[in-house]
Amino acid sequence: MSPKPVILDVDPGHDDAVALMLACGHPDLDLLAVTTVAGNVTIEKTTRNALRVLSLVGCTDVPVGVGAPEPLERPLHTAEDIHGKSGLDGPEEIPHAGFEPDESGAVALIADTLRASTEPVTLIPVGPLTNIAAFLREHPGLKDRVARISLMGGSMGLGNTTPAAEFNIYVDPEAAREVFESGLPITMSGLDVTHQAGAGPRERARLRATGRVGHVVAGFLDFFATTYESVFGFDAPPLHDPVAVAAVLEPGLLKTRPMRVDIECESDLTRGETVCDFYGVTGMAPNAEVGVELDRERFFRLLYGALDRL
Ligand code: BDR
Ligand code: CA
Repeated sequence: MSPKPVILDVDPGHDDAVALMLACGHPDLDLLAVTTVAGNVTIEKTTRNALRVLSLVGCTDVPVGVGAPEPLERPLHTAEDIHGKSGLDGPEEIPHAGFEPDESGAVALIADTLRASTEPVTLIPVGPLTNIAAFLREHPGLKDRVARISLMGGSMGLGNTTPAAEFNIYVDPEAAREVFESGLPITMSGLDVTHQAGAGPRERARLRATGRVGHVVAGFLDFFATTYESVFGFDAPPLHDPVAVAAVLEPGLLKTRPMRVDIECESDLTRGETVCDFYGVTGMAPNAEVGVELDRERFFRLLYGALDRL
């Protein structure tokens, strides 16, 4: 089986960094391009972090397209409280990047990559959906070149940025609405499943013992653990974004259920909520496969295997 072609859209971010490493380290994925978006921190910082992470793991031949500096219609809301000032704070700063971003921005890079690919490409957005919505607006004719969108975002229940909204969707709800209404096949890895991917002391110790890259990841996660502990009271920081990559690699490790998902954009109280019609009470056709359960053991096995290879 030939590796699956994918494009990762990221706002690194500790868990975004691990998602990039998983995609680089797994032989069953062909990482065609990486695009950056403003989210956890500004676009300058998310781009710098993406380039550094790719350099660290030796993936410098993957083109990186710089994306949107702010959401479609709103000022940027960042998450320094979770990821630190740099977006990738931790015990050690990773080395400077060994390469520059591509001259084409994120949207053009996605379009060119889809055109050049011999088979439809899976998009894996793990930040606010601004770039993906902008791409769909500008290139509706390329939709049939998209195999699926496997995204990290949303929640069937509780939010992590407001009581109702998860961060990626909260930051750019208008973009999320356009993506969910695009008609493309969507897999949604929301908080319900990414909170099952918590990296506790045992997982961090295993990573620390996994060579140079594993050691850096363990350091990232130690920092992530302190912010998740102080902000949410969690004892294991969730590896949100790698779940969206793992769902592409091994669809069986994420149990999903087809649902209609609508995005609240208006209400001040619930803006950014992913309203998931679990029981089908609206009678509307499902527009997403929503993750309801993660096989945590399989997920970590997949991650260790990929990081071991880097
Ligand atoms: C999401 O928000 C970001 O802080 C993480 O990188 C992840 O994509 C979790 O809500
Ligand atoms: Ca992210």
